[in-house]
Amino acid sequence: MKLSTVSELLAKVPSLKEIEIKGWVRTFRANRFIALNDGSTINNIQCVVDFEKMDESFLKRITTGAAIHIKGELVESLGRGQKVEIKVNTINILGDCDPDEFPIQPKKHTFEFLRENAHLRTRTNTFSAVMRIRSTLSFAIHKYFVDNGFYHMHAPIITGSDAEGAGEMFRVSSLNPENLPKSEDGSIDYSQDFFGKETNLTVSGQLEAETYAMSLGKVYTFGPTFRAENSNTSRHLAEFWMIEPEVAFMDLAGNMDLAEDFLKNVLKYTLEKNREDLEFLDKRFLDEEKRKPQIERSEMSLIEKLNFVINNNFKRVSYTEAIEILRQSKPNKKKKFKYLIENWGSDLQSEHERFLVEKHFKCPVILFDYPATIKAFYMRLNEDGKTVRAMDILFPGIGEIVGGSQREERLEVLKEKMAKLDIPEEELWWYLDLRKYGTAVHSGFGLGFERLIMFATGMGNIRDVIPYPRTPQNAEF
Ligand code: 4AD
Ligand code: MG
Repeated sequence: MKLSTVSELLAKVPSLKEIEIKGWVRTFRANRFIALNDGSTINNIQCVVDFEKMDESFLKRITTGAAIHIKGELVESLGRGQKVEIKVNTINILGDCDPDEFPIQPKKHTFEFLRENAHLRTRTNTFSAVMRIRSTLSFAIHKYFVDNGFYHMHAPIITGSDAEGAGEMFRVSSLNPENLPKSEDGSIDYSQDFFGKETNLTVSGQLEAETYAMSLGKVYTFGPTFRAENSNTSRHLAEFWMIEPEVAFMDLAGNMDLAEDFLKNVLKYTLEKNREDLEFLDKRFLDEEKRKPQIERSEMSLIEKLNFVINNNFKRVSYTEAIEILRQSKPNKKKKFKYLIENWGSDLQSEHERFLVEKHFKCPVILFDYPATIKAFYMRLNEDGKTVRAMDILFPGIGEIVGGSQREERLEVLKEKMAKLDIPEEELWWYLDLRKYGTAVHSGFGLGFERLIMFATGMGNIRDVIPYPRTPQNAEF
C-alpha cells in the first residue's frame, strides 16, 4: 500500500479505507491520542489508539520522538481542531526514543538550547516551518529568474581573487602547516601549493557572473559564499548563501526595478505556498514582540509586514539625501546613535539604516549613489567624480538585505581605480578583458539568502535560518 503523508491525509475527506503512514510521535496523551508529524506540514495528525487492545509495555514505547508506522482508517474527528483523524489498527515501532534522554521535549525550548541541538531542532514546529520556508524561497528564486529569461550560472567556490576587496577570506591550501615551503626572502612559497598560487573561498560570484552576463545577457548565481569577518552579530554568518543576478545593458535604475520586482515576487510566492507555516510563525512573532519595550515593537504582524512589502513601492533615496535626514534626526542630535553622523562621506551603520527604514520612511528603502570611498572598486563612477552607482536595499528589522551596483565599464577608469586601491592588474586581467572586448553598461546585485529568510520568517537571529550556522568559534555539525 502507498504510504500517505500527514499533509495529504489532512486534506482528505474521511473514508473507511485503510491507509498507512510513518512519522515521529510529537505527543502521546491519555494512552490514547498520538499527535504524529512527518515533516510534510506544520500540522500533526491525531491517531487514536484503542489501548485496551494493546499491552502496557508496548504503549510505554510510544514516546515523544519515536518513529512509528501506523495502519488504520481515516475517520471523521469528533475532537476540536481537526476534521479527520486516524483510527489505529496496528502500530509498529520503527525506532524507540528514550524520553529521559531525548533533548526535544514537548515544551518551549530556548533558541540557544536548540542551536546546540541543531541536528534535532527541525523536530520542533518553529524550525520545521522556517526550513520549509527556506526551501520554498530557494525554489521561488530559481523560478523567478527562469521565468524572466535568466540563465543559472555556477560560479567557482575556490578563487584567486578578492571580489569585494575587503580581505576577509578563508585560505584554501593543501600545504602542510607544520612545514611550509619558504621562498628565499622568507615568505611562504605558494607556487608549491596545490593551485600554484594563493587561493581562497569566494566572497562573491559577481566578477565571474559579469563575464557570463557579457555573453549570455542575463545570468544569476546562487551559491555559498564565505567571509572571515569577525563580527559576532545576529545578521552575519561566515558561510552564507548569496543570489547574484547580473545583466548586460542594464543601468542602475533597471537594477533597482529588477531587485524590487524580484523581492516582491519571491515573498508573494512564499506567502501563498507556506500559509500555515507563516500563520504559525506569525503567532510566535507577536509573542516575541510583546516582550520587547513599546518603542522597539513592530507595528505590524509578520504576515502584515510581508503584505506591506509586496504591495508598496520601495522608497528610493540618494545617499546624500539620507545623510541630511540622519544629520537632522533626533537620535543624532541627542547623541543617541553610537556612531554620530557628522559629515558627508561617513559609512552608514546598521543603526542608521534601521532608523531610515523603521522610523523615518517606514517602508523598504533603496539607497543609491554612495561615496566612492566606502564602496567596492568595480562600481561605476558618476559624473560628479565622487559618488558611484551603488544601491543598497534596506528592510525593516534587517537593515541591508541587498547590495548592488552598475559596474564600471570603462577600461581606463577601472584601471585607475584599481591602481589607487593597489589591486594588481595581473590578478584581474580577465575582468579587465571584458572592458576591452565589446564593453557595455551592465549591472547586478547580491541578495543575502539568510537575511531574506529572516525577514520572511520573523526570526531574529541569522543562526536560526540556516541548517548549520558557521560563526566565529563555531563549526559544529
Ligand atoms: O553587499 P555585499 O558585500 O555585495 C556583494 O558581495 C556584491 N558582490 C553583490 C553583487 O553586486 N553581485 O553582499 C551582498 C549581500 C548583503 O546585502 C547581505 O544581505 C549579504 O549579502 N551578506 C551577508 N549575509 C550574511 N552574513 C554575512 N557575513 C554577509 N555579508 C553580506
Ligand atoms: Mg553591502
